[in-house]
Amino acid sequence: METALTNRNSSNPGTAIVTGASSGIGKVYADRLAARGYDLILVARRQERLSTIAADLQQRHGVSAEVLVADLSQPAGAAAVVDRLASDASISLLVNNAGFSAMKPLTDTPDATIREMIGLNVTALTLLSKAALVAFKARNAGTLVNVGSGAGFAPYPGIPVYGSTKAYVHLFTEALQGEVEGTAVRVQLVLPGAVISEGWEVAGGSSLESLPEGIVMTTEDCVDAALSGLDLGERVTAPSLHDDAPLREYEGLSGKLLQSVFDGKPAARYKVGG
Ligand SMILES: NC(=O)c1ccc[n+]([C@@H]2O[C@H](COP(=O)([O-])OP(=O)(O)OC[C@H]3O[C@@H](n4cnc5c(N)ncnc54)[C@H](OP(=O)(O)O)[C@@H]3O)[C@@H](O)[C@H]2O)c1
Repeated sequence: METALTNRNSSNPGTAIVTGASSGIGKVYADRLAARGYDLILVARRQERLSTIAADLQQRHGVSAEVLVADLSQPAGAAAVVDRLASDASISLLVNNAGFSAMKPLTDTPDATIREMIGLNVTALTLLSKAALVAFKARNAGTLVNVGSGAGFAPYPGIPVYGSTKAYVHLFTEALQGEVEGTAVRVQLVLPGAVISEGWEVAGGSSLESLPEGIVMTTEDCVDAALSGLDLGERVTAPSLHDDAPLREYEGLSGKLLQSVFDGKPAARYKVGG
C-alpha cells in the first residue's frame, strides 16, 4: 500500500528538502525520510555537520544525500533554496523545519536577533513554501510540511518574538491548506511541544532540565509521530496532544471569530454614534 508520503511510487518517493537538517528535529526527519527511500537535500549553515549526516544517510539507507549550505535568514540563502525548488522536478517534499528562539523579553532582545529570527522563522519559510507550492501545484503532486510550535497558540513569557513567529507559521500554513484544496498537493502543520534538542541552548534563558518532568519529548518520538500524522492524512499534527478536542475547538472558534469580527457598526459597549 502506498503511504501519503509516496508522491511518485512506493520504490521512488522522490527528493525531500529538509531545512535545519544539521541537528535536532531536522536531523531526525532526514534520517526517517531516507529510511522511507527519499533522496535528500540537507539545508543548514554548518557544512561539516551536514556532510557527516549526508555520508551516514547514504551509507545506511542507500539514498543520495546532498548538502546545500545556506543561511536562510539572509535573502541570498533563501534564494538558493527557492531556486533549487523551482528547478529540480524530482523534489516531492519540503520540510520547512529550520528555526530558532531566543528567550528574552522584547526590550532585552538585540535588533539583529529579531531580524534574524523573523528572517528565518517567517520570511524564509514563506518564500520556500511559495516556491514549493508553485512547483507542486504545477505537477499536482508534492507535500509541504511546516514546523510551527505549541508556543504559537498563546503568548508565553520570555519568547514574544519566537511565539509570534510560530503563530504566523500556524495561520500561514492553514491558509495554504485552503490554496491546495481540491488538488493532490498536501500541506501539513506540525506543532511540537517541548522536544529535546540543541535549540534550547541556542535559545538560552531556560534549560530542558528545568522543565517539569514528563513534558519533554524525544526528538525521535516527535518526528515519528509527525510522520505518522502525515500518513494518517492529518492537516495539523501536534505530537504531544493526547486529546485533540481543544485543537478542534480552537480551530472552530477562530473561524467563528473571523466571521463575526467584520461589522460596519461599532459594538454597543463602545457607545459610539448614540
Ligand atoms: N525543540 C523544541 O522544543 C521545539 C518545540 C517546538 C518547535 N520547535 C521547532 O522545531 C524546529 C527545529 O528546532 P530544533 O528544536 O530541532 O532546534 P535545533 O536543534 O537548534 O535545530 C535548528 C536547525 O535550524 C538550523 N538553522 C538555524 N539557523 C539557521 C539559518 N539562519 N539558516 C539555515 N538553517 C538554520 C540549524 O542549523 P545550523 O545552525 O547549522 O544552520 C539546525 O539544523 C524549529 O523550527 C523550532 O522552532 C522546536
